[in-house]
Amino acid sequence: MANRPRIAVVGSVNVDLTTFTDDFPRPGETIFGKSFDLGFGGKGANQAVAARLCGAEATMVAKVGNDLFGPASIKNFESLGIDSTHVRTETGVSSGVAPIFVDSAGQNRIIVVKGANDALRPADVDQAASVLKQSACIVMQLEIPLDTVYYTIRFAKANGIRSILNPAPGQPLDMKQVGQVDYFIPNESEAETIAGKPVGSVEEAKSCAAFFLSQGVRRVIITLGASGCLLAGADGMELIPAFKVKTKDTTGAGDAFIGSFAVFLAEGMTERDALSRANLYAALSTTKVGTQKSFSKRAEFEQEWKTRAGAPA
Ligand code: RIB
Repeated sequence: MANRPRIAVVGSVNVDLTTFTDDFPRPGETIFGKSFDLGFGGKGANQAVAARLCGAEATMVAKVGNDLFGPASIKNFESLGIDSTHVRTETGVSSGVAPIFVDSAGQNRIIVVKGANDALRPADVDQAASVLKQSACIVMQLEIPLDTVYYTIRFAKANGIRSILNPAPGQPLDMKQVGQVDYFIPNESEAETIAGKPVGSVEEAKSCAAFFLSQGVRRVIITLGASGCLLAGADGMELIPAFKVKTKDTTGAGDAFIGSFAVFLAEGMTERDALSRANLYAALSTTKVGTQKSFSKRAEFEQEWKTRAGAPA
């Protein structure tokens, strides 16, 4: 590993309640699921965990509730060596939770109840200013209030810190604010929701990426699942292919991609190399059940990368 960059995440913390099921109940119906998994999640927390497991110093700026899940989530950060000084407890609200349903193809459906995540304010970003300023990159998602996201984007820009916005879950955005980020990384459905354009093929992803560029975004990466990811900028567009794996559960794969990409880039890799590696890191996470617990440690990842000789197949 070249160096140990600091990656800061201003984002969400949830507990994931994952049910594995082939069927879904109709209104008024009760059915049996196949199995259940309880684990730590939240797009922000997942990305911080991925960054940490990839070898970064990681800092989390977040809010949890004063319930059973809040202290457990903070303990989880501590046990992984993630700086949780700026993970504060909000009284009178629940922690964020995510009931998740995973079908037999490993595809997930997620309902997020934001709870305390909705209480993360620009003032919390200011309180964390000194550690944020020491970071190589600030990573954000959309499970916290949008004004906090926009404030953090401006903070990063004003302090010359690289910023990554993963606009998940997809929702309408002020593209003038978003245009200030260094990397804008939606998946297909998020890109569709934000741009109001279909993304059912690589060609459609290119046209959607062109739309984001026209809105002032400098670098756009649209993740395309088994098709890899599309990198787009003023210098052109390139499809970075995915790696073939046996998928069990796709939950958190996007977060594995973002957290690992932030680290690889901060270590000084080219965008192309960082994206190819992030494609493999994300793919490996789908071979295991659960969210954070499906993420590989750096040494395991490097072993797999070597085995595949860095070549998608
Ligand atoms: O991206 C996966 C995550 O989305 C889950 O961990 C869940 O908590 C939701 O935030």
